Amino acid sequence: MRIGILTGGGDCPGLNAVIRGIVKSAPDDVEILGIMHGWKGLVDLEYITLTDDDVEGIHIIGGTILGTSRTNPFKSEEMSQKLEENVKKIGLDAVIAIGGDDTLSVAAKLSSMGYNVVGVPKTIDNDVSNTDFTFGYHTAVNVGADAIDRLHSTAKSHGRVIFVELMGREAGWITIEAGLAAGAHLILIPEYPMTIDEIVNYVKERMENKGYMIVAVAEGFKPTELENVVGDKSEIDAFGHIRLGGIAHYMAEIIKERTGYDTRSVVLGHLLRGGTPTAFDRILGTRYGVHAMKLVLDKDFGRMVALKGNEIISIPLEYAIATKKYVPFDYYKLAQIFFG
Ligand code: F6P
Repeated sequence: MRIGILTGGGDCPGLNAVIRGIVKSAPDDVEILGIMHGWKGLVDLEYITLTDDDVEGIHIIGGTILGTSRTNPFKSEEMSQKLEENVKKIGLDAVIAIGGDDTLSVAAKLSSMGYNVVGVPKTIDNDVSNTDFTFGYHTAVNVGADAIDRLHSTAKSHGRVIFVELMGREAGWITIEAGLAAGAHLILIPEYPMTIDEIVNYVKERMENKGYMIVAVAEGFKPTELENVVGDKSEIDAFGHIRLGGIAHYMAEIIKERTGYDTRSVVLGHLLRGGTPTAFDRILGTRYGVHAMKLVLDKDFGRMVALKGNEIISIPLEYAIATKKYVPFDYYKLAQIFFG
């Protein structure tokens, strides 16, 4: 049996743990090919053979030894044809795709075309539905909380309002949890927009009472008055997403103008995605990898591994991509208790 594994979309800590889990749990008669750079590797036919030795100790290393890309092979007829030809050419019996909703949407499409595919949910944003957590997210929250912890002393010393921007395109999970953990005084996430007037009121009240303030803001947040999210609209990826970034700077400027307080902005960006995974993410990635291999051996295709409570289960791939997992209102209400 020959199995191809690939990692697509933005990298995140824990990807290598999944790869190691798959390779180490594969029986001796199963050959594992590591497809390079996500779906691109199947279009360009770039792959390596993975043995136990190749994955020795990689679970503690961030990123992905297979490289990644945001290639959408169904963007053109030529690419999808090449991909299909190559799957046959190298004789893949199954593909394990490790990725977020974009990578998994390609996996689901291939599965509906009759290919043997298994998905592993990956996104730093933690917004894949029907799984409690995606690996890498826990690491990102820890890095974010540590950074916000550090901003308190400098904001306080200078009597400033500091806006700290964290990743999260449509779901504010990283921002709300890092913000809660580190005691941000206001948390702004895409799910719950606020007007600039409301933000100004929070800032004035906090500054009058306490003299400094940390605002955690997700990159995908936009104040109610703004028509579009802040980012570079000229940079659109193969799945149609613009490159986000700049909301912290935007808010810092407006708040300075509206309140006169000294403001600063910090973008955590890719720092949240880099480096070694936490023990939680190493273990989650490992368990996902081992379970994905089991699904392949059981010929249980068209499914994605998922975490429910403390159990690894599997769900149909389409369920994972049907909706996104957003921060529920009750959770946001809990965070609101600590605003100000
Ligand atoms: O989708 C995950 C994510 O980390 C988003 O939070 C972020 O907007 C995006 O990827 C950044 O993508 P890139 O690494 O391509 O700049």
